[in-house]
Amino acid sequence: MNLPDMKQARLRTDKKVEYKDAQNIKSDKFKNKKYYLRTYGCQMNVHDSEEIKGILENLGFKETEELERADIVVLNTCAIRENAHDKVFGFLGRLKHLKKENPNLIICIGGCMPQEEVIATTLKEKYPFVNIVFGTHNIDELASMILEEDKHQQIEVYSIEGDVYEHMDYVRDSKITAWVNIMYGCDKFCTYCIVPFTRGKQRSRKMPEIIKEVEDLKKKGYLEITLLGQNVNAYGKDLEEGYDFATLLEEVAKTDIPRIRFVTSHPWDFTDEMIDVIAKYPNIMPYIHLPLQSGSSKILKLMGRRYTKEEYITLYNKIKEKIKGVSITTDIIVGFPNETDEDFAETLEVVNTCKFDGAFTFIYSPREGTPAAKIKDSIPLEVKEHRLHELNELINAYSLMHNKEYIGKTEEVLVLGPSEKGQNKVYGYTKTMKLVNIDDAQDDIGKLIPVQITDAKSFSLDGKKAIFVQN
Ligand code: SAH
Ligand code: SF4
Ligand code: F3S
Repeated sequence: MNLPDMKQARLRTDKKVEYKDAQNIKSDKFKNKKYYLRTYGCQMNVHDSEEIKGILENLGFKETEELERADIVVLNTCAIRENAHDKVFGFLGRLKHLKKENPNLIICIGGCMPQEEVIATTLKEKYPFVNIVFGTHNIDELASMILEEDKHQQIEVYSIEGDVYEHMDYVRDSKITAWVNIMYGCDKFCTYCIVPFTRGKQRSRKMPEIIKEVEDLKKKGYLEITLLGQNVNAYGKDLEEGYDFATLLEEVAKTDIPRIRFVTSHPWDFTDEMIDVIAKYPNIMPYIHLPLQSGSSKILKLMGRRYTKEEYITLYNKIKEKIKGVSITTDIIVGFPNETDEDFAETLEVVNTCKFDGAFTFIYSPREGTPAAKIKDSIPLEVKEHRLHELNELINAYSLMHNKEYIGKTEEVLVLGPSEKGQNKVYGYTKTMKLVNIDDAQDDIGKLIPVQITDAKSFSLDGKKAIFVQN
């Protein structure tokens, strides 16, 4: 068995989730020491890293971006596809070398990878130079593990408990946009996906705590928040209180924080009420990430996605119709076991029907312990690679088509920082989540400004500061 025993995990539904106050242990033991933190994976991990930073800084560590100068290295890992694993093991090779030069270096591995028993065992048996291994359920224990660090390897991972911790000290990466977790874990068990195993059962935070956090962020001057969860539309289903994502979104909108986003939406849980609330409040951004995964109803069934191709398209059209100017992006997996040419053609057909604003596309990667990994697969890798290439060409063509529609228009952009595209340029996002590189607006970082769009590429827009916003 390579994953936590799901019989036990299912028992969790009978056990009440505990809502605990974070301990926020403070110490000056590591006052002049430096930490290096590397984050892999999704927004969930990015936000968890803000929690890890809070823990490390409470212990006295200061951040460094130079690995060689670090006294402690923390890797916050991802397990979603095999290449995520490969990256971490590659980096561990480098750390082993570093540890030879600096035997006092403390190496910590956390996140989704160690939640797989096979990985935790490998770390124990083959990577004894790793000092601390922790999971997604017990980030709050990291402080005491570091304080107790005595050169022996400590591994604390598999808890299937996964309670909800409130009032953690975060060190947020931005002063303009912030992540707000609304739930942890996932109950969907799509047959290819490791997340329900690495993150545990769904646990929603209570609405008053979320609203308090948003109000606090607003007071601190944040202009945008993103509500986070693997499946935000299922928010509240595990609570007795009887509220759902539509209720939460409406309450968050009423705080008047200027911009609200949310990821990720599962089509199966998307209700008409949610669409109405998004359409009603101008501070809820008209942008929805709505993973399709496959355009073949046969494959969707094998994936355990709980909707058909037709149901997806109906929902898509309803959203487009009711939410003015909405942009919709998606995730698609190619090469699910035994996906035929006809199945793949259906995926292309749905892309041609929906004309997505953008998509993240992946080749299916078997994850040990998940149901799909047991299916014998007869499709060669070259075929899967060819499908991915063909799909990407189509997706990029539609992205460019949508982006070109913006040329000449004036859009409200939240400016986030200097652009990689050259000096005197800054970057930001439109309401519809289009990346814009803007000329001569260096003084506008952290502001919402009107930008006239001058050019469009597949992945970004160019623009210059304008005077007014068209509607
Ligand atoms: N909770 C989100 C997605 C989480 S993972 C949702 O349900 O949509 C992000 C994306 O990774 C998924 O949407 C899926 O497209 C992809 N993914 C997940 N498991 C995968 C696997 N085993 N192989 C390839 N891609 C995978
Ligand atoms: Fe994975 Fe499915 Fe949950 Fe998304 S909804 S995290 S794809 S199991
Ligand atoms: Fe990866 Fe874990 Fe996110 S597996 S995609 S970091 S929930």
